[in-house]
Amino acid sequence: MTFPQIGRLIAVMNRAGRSDAPDRSLPAEASGPVARAFRAVPVRLRAMLLLGLGSVTIVAAQAGAQSEGEVKETEAGIPVTSKLVIEKCAGCHAPDDKGNLTRISWVRTTPEGWSQAISRMVKLNGLQITPAETREVLKYLSTYHGLAPSEAKPVMYMPEERIIEEKIPTKLLHNTCASCHAFGKPMSWRRSKAEWTLLRAMHVSLYSQAESQYEQPLEGGDDDDEEGVSNRPGSDAGFHEAVDADGAASGKKKTRGDVAFAEMTKLAPLHTPEWAAWRSRIRSPQLSGKWVVSASSPAKGRFVGEMTITPGAAADEFKTSITLRSLSGGASLTRTGAAIVYGGYSWRGRSQGGAGKDAVPGDLSSEARETMWFSPDQASAEGRWFWGAYNEFGFDVKLTRVTGGPVIGAVTPGAVKPGMKGVSFHILGDNLPTGLAPAEISLGEGVKVTGIVSAGPSDLVVNADIASDAPAGLRDVSVRGAVLEKAFPVYTRVDYLKVTPETAMARLGGIKYPKGYQLFEAVGYDNGADGKPGTADDVAVGPVDVSWSIDEFMTVSYDDDKKYVGTIDANTGLFTPNVAGPNPERRFGRNNYGEVWVVATAKSLKGKDGKPLAARAYLVTTVPMYRRWDQPEIAP
Ligand code: HEC
Ligand code: HEC
Repeated sequence: MTFPQIGRLIAVMNRAGRSDAPDRSLPAEASGPVARAFRAVPVRLRAMLLLGLGSVTIVAAQAGAQSEGEVKETEAGIPVTSKLVIEKCAGCHAPDDKGNLTRISWVRTTPEGWSQAISRMVKLNGLQITPAETREVLKYLSTYHGLAPSEAKPVMYMPEERIIEEKIPTKLLHNTCASCHAFGKPMSWRRSKAEWTLLRAMHVSLYSQAESQYEQPLEGGDDDDEEGVSNRPGSDAGFHEAVDADGAASGKKKTRGDVAFAEMTKLAPLHTPEWAAWRSRIRSPQLSGKWVVSASSPAKGRFVGEMTITPGAAADEFKTSITLRSLSGGASLTRTGAAIVYGGYSWRGRSQGGAGKDAVPGDLSSEARETMWFSPDQASAEGRWFWGAYNEFGFDVKLTRVTGGPVIGAVTPGAVKPGMKGVSFHILGDNLPTGLAPAEISLGEGVKVTGIVSAGPSDLVVNADIASDAPAGLRDVSVRGAVLEKAFPVYTRVDYLKVTPETAMARLGGIKYPKGYQLFEAVGYDNGADGKPGTADDVAVGPVDVSWSIDEFMTVSYDDDKKYVGTIDANTGLFTPNVAGPNPERRFGRNNYGEVWVVATAKSLKGKDGKPLAARAYLVTTVPMYRRWDQPEIAP
């Protein structure tokens, strides 16, 4: 099977990542937007495109084993104290006199990282282990050879299955490590210097294209730093130099692999201040009790509700029951589930909402996986509950523990305008106090509480006036000590729309492979105080009522992708991709893949020119993911 179009996309992506040179292989009028669009393709999405091609193959079994002898471990290891881990792993990973097991004692990673390493041991090295034993090993290793919460937080988008624009510290790491998988993959690990070196050997023997990536000499493009150095102080050039000095003794000409792995040893070493501080604080999670849930789901709106957590079969296992109430007039939802908490803070759960097999795509009652990060004080959590063949549907959630005091989960009606009088605000939450004076309630600058309409423990209703000169912006709401930050916006007008996700991907399917859907949402924005769109002071007003359509994305003059890639629901913004398989109607009998614009046109809002406000997103519809790397099944 050939994928000329996707091949071209990847070629363009690679180019877009490296330079701004015009793409001469494309018609002149097309090169601009294509290159621009692909510079905007999040790295993770690029990685998924690449993996979907099956370009990475496993070729060897006993990988890396022979190089173990050549690389000397010099750092202190983390001793393994679990009897089960020693029983299962020490046969091949011999212990030293301090209780360190080779390899294992010099790496730390997330539950997903350990899960993947263990399944590789089973598949390639003949480890024999039952599912129950795997779970115990996983719990131990991701706790005592895990990440500190502050190390895990920046890579939570990996287990949350979010597609984001990654911040990669250097151009070279972008080019060398983010072409096959997200950069979040390496950043989910901490390893000794020797272990980063051994990982390189493992890549070269297992993944066919790694060697050619790593053996390339450093090139000019590796240094120009379009990516920014947002993760780390100091200039990129300085960082490369510091790393270069380390290996200067060898005298050999440096390759990209040399520098990339040297950079990883600095970015993600085994021993860190974060880990040192966390190690002694590790304890069983005490999460039982009542939590207020604030949730939102793209195109479905905001929800508020409650999650009751009760103890499960072990100290780190829990059962849940959840109720969610829609704030935009949708139905209420109830869910029940179970979860394991790894490392004392990292929640992996699963819950059922009652949706049957014939549920429509994106049905909010679907069975969902839950990934959440609990703050070390165990008072709040945030994460994502998701489902779909590509985890494309989900809720973004925030939890706040209900102790004795009031908790605010959400405030309606949402966006308000200066000059509005007698607006009835509902402050929704738990343990909300009664017998309040208006002065004990704050709705933020320029929003004056004029009276209390009713005060229930979960719904406090107040009237308020919005001053005619109230500045645009988000307001915090507080009630006697409880605060909800960024609870609602004040805005003057919707100046422009934005479609999210701005760069999206769907996958053909429906016969042999499942479809990968994409749900779009149009959000209105106020230009903010400076009157200019696209600046930091812009205010997101909220979802806007629009009609959805698809437009041709001009790449090749005889392209007709619009007819083949799939359809979008004009009202809901749900894109349903076409079936896969060569299509005899298409030129060259191509598959139904392609690139289109997804266009949102406001039903009632107009711009300064009197025309309806509109915005668009770029959508790639590609082939199914034939090979899945994302296997970790670590939820109950
Ligand atoms: C039958 C032998 C065998 C057993 C049992 C075994 N391993 Fe391994 N392990 C290997 C070999 C060989 C390598 C080096 C090649 C590789 O990376 O696959 C390795 C490498 C590793 C690595 C380094 C991989 C990397 O990311 O670079 C980790 C981590 C690891 N093993 C973990 C474990 C754990 C945890 C267990 C027990 C649950 C275990 N192994 C049991 C044979 C084994
Ligand atoms: C040629 C493709 C390719 C390149 C380039 C590549 N990787 Fe990987 N890497 C893989 C594959 C495939 C896996 C295993 C599947 C997975 O975890 O997604 C993997 C897994 C990993 C893991 C998990 C290891 C484990 O024991 O499970 C780490 C860490 C990692 N890569 C780091 C890096 C770093 C750092 C770079 C750049 C220096 C890099 N990778 C470049 C293909 C690549």
